[in-house]
Amino acid sequence: LAENLPASNLLGFKGIAASTADEVVIAPGYKAEVLISWGDPLVDGAMAFDPNGGNSAAEQEKQFGDNNDGMSFFPIDDNHGVMAINNEYVNEQYLFAHGGSQASSLEDVRKSQAAHGVSIVAVKRIGDSQRWQVERPSRYNRRITANSEMQFSGPATGHPLLQTAADPSGRRVLGTLNNCSNGKTPWGTYLTCEENFETYFGTQQADYKTTPEQKRYALKANEPERNWSTFDERFDVAKNPNELNRFGWIVEIDPMNPHSTPIKRTALGRFKHENAAVTVAKDGRLVVYMGDDERGEHIYKYVSKNKVDSSNPANNHRLLDDGTLYVAQFDGDANGTPLKGTGRWLALEFGKNGLTPENGFRDAAEVLIFARKAASQVGATKMDRPEWIAINPHDGQTYCTLTNNSKRGEEGMPVNAANPRPNNLYGQIIRWDEGGDATAENFSWDIYVLAGNPIAHPEGVNRGTPNITAENTFNSPDGLGFDKAGRLWILTDGKYSNKGDYQGQGNNQMLVGDPKSGEIRRFMVGPKSCELTGIAFTPDYKTMFVNVQHPGEEGDSRFPNNSPRPRSSVIMVTREDGGVIGA
Ligand code: FEO
Ligand code: CA
Ligand code: CA
Ligand code: CA
Repeated sequence: LAENLPASNLLGFKGIAASTADEVVIAPGYKAEVLISWGDPLVDGAMAFDPNGGNSAAEQEKQFGDNNDGMSFFPIDDNHGVMAINNEYVNEQYLFAHGGSQASSLEDVRKSQAAHGVSIVAVKRIGDSQRWQVERPSRYNRRITANSEMQFSGPATGHPLLQTAADPSGRRVLGTLNNCSNGKTPWGTYLTCEENFETYFGTQQADYKTTPEQKRYALKANEPERNWSTFDERFDVAKNPNELNRFGWIVEIDPMNPHSTPIKRTALGRFKHENAAVTVAKDGRLVVYMGDDERGEHIYKYVSKNKVDSSNPANNHRLLDDGTLYVAQFDGDANGTPLKGTGRWLALEFGKNGLTPENGFRDAAEVLIFARKAASQVGATKMDRPEWIAINPHDGQTYCTLTNNSKRGEEGMPVNAANPRPNNLYGQIIRWDEGGDATAENFSWDIYVLAGNPIAHPEGVNRGTPNITAENTFNSPDGLGFDKAGRLWILTDGKYSNKGDYQGQGNNQMLVGDPKSGEIRRFMVGPKSCELTGIAFTPDYKTMFVNVQHPGEEGDSRFPNNSPRPRSSVIMVTREDGGVIGA
């Protein structure tokens, strides 16, 4: 138990030690099994996975995508469900038979594009157990890729900055990219969030000069990371400069209708979207909290104009098109108490708060397309890489992982009350309280945990808050989710060297926090050089799904099942006695 903390009656399992093994390690009494892995056949006509990278682009298009990240479970009945699962990016060295770290042909680009996007996977219960399996064939099974047709919706639709030679209307776009995490609407649709989209763009044109807006979104045009632009002109920013503006959005997908067209919802702003935490405010309006994961970027909130109509879901389709986008300002405590304070949501509305033509915003659409620029204009607080956001179902307090920030304390990014550590190695989880009204423009906040390592740093800021111990030490909280009982599930995407500042922390891991007592206990540890991410439950909370993403990115894993090439996989967690996970 953490020092000086009352014993938690929320956390019912025995915490486990750190691990550096190339396997999933889980709390006693629990079982972790693979549900589906990258390359497994999914839709009709799919070929078997070739463990040597020999599947073609056309074959990959029918298989489960790579690097599964955020996901949601949509129940059909007690024994059937549909899962929507993001395929964030690819591990080139394993995707391509040639083992190189970049695409070297158009076929490579097409295969990579086919491994991106979202996989819609039907699942069914095995007998009367808590275990599930992929249902195949199923009419629901579907791949949405970097080449699937989608529409724009909301205020930026059709704007000149979204128009291209292939789509002069600015209304139709191909594909979704770098689908990091996710959200779920009250009307049963899936929200998938486009994060590091600029890594797909570049140009061979040596004298190409990036614009200030492209730089703000971190585009490095002359160092195309994945080399798509060499073979697919759509991703050449010199030839198709507006294509970049067509990514960085939140995309809504109806997983229950395999013929539905995904919709990019421009009212939610364009940035490196991590996840979308959705709630219905007490007055019935829809609220979406969103992080923008880059060093010094911001936390956003969207409030719909109209109310959710639970009696007629068809009336809800415009809720994500018409509303106000806000960005957060975090101020210190008036009495100077550390690790807490107050804050405000600043509206990003054209014509207000300096969002005017004089300051470079020509219309409402530009405020959304260049939301980062608008956030700076209104004075948003620079955060330590906002990743996931999760809402406590019991009190509405909202938690956000700030994963780490190697640049904190450098010029242009001084420490501030909410981001108090220079060269923030370990990250923190901040939470805010809006007094029970998710539409509020003011809030109070505190730090739930400042992660740290008491083994490497028995004293000082890198020790972490008192709820960090030698037993639960971790770095870089990223994935985050609440279960129905109010347990806070924390997943890490950090350094796994197990040396120096990270000694004793082992591989990336999953922990559970008690929001009231503050206690945090380690529940599961992933295989070598993976990230643990994505969290979804069945409605009875007796089955949990978690993602092992990019195992062996350092060339050191044969996960799962001694695979010649490691494979990102969805893990199904059950309790040997069939009980509620974590209880
Ligand atoms: Fe895809 Fe910020 O994690
Ligand atoms: Ca990830
Ligand atoms: Ca993440
Ligand atoms: Ca991360």
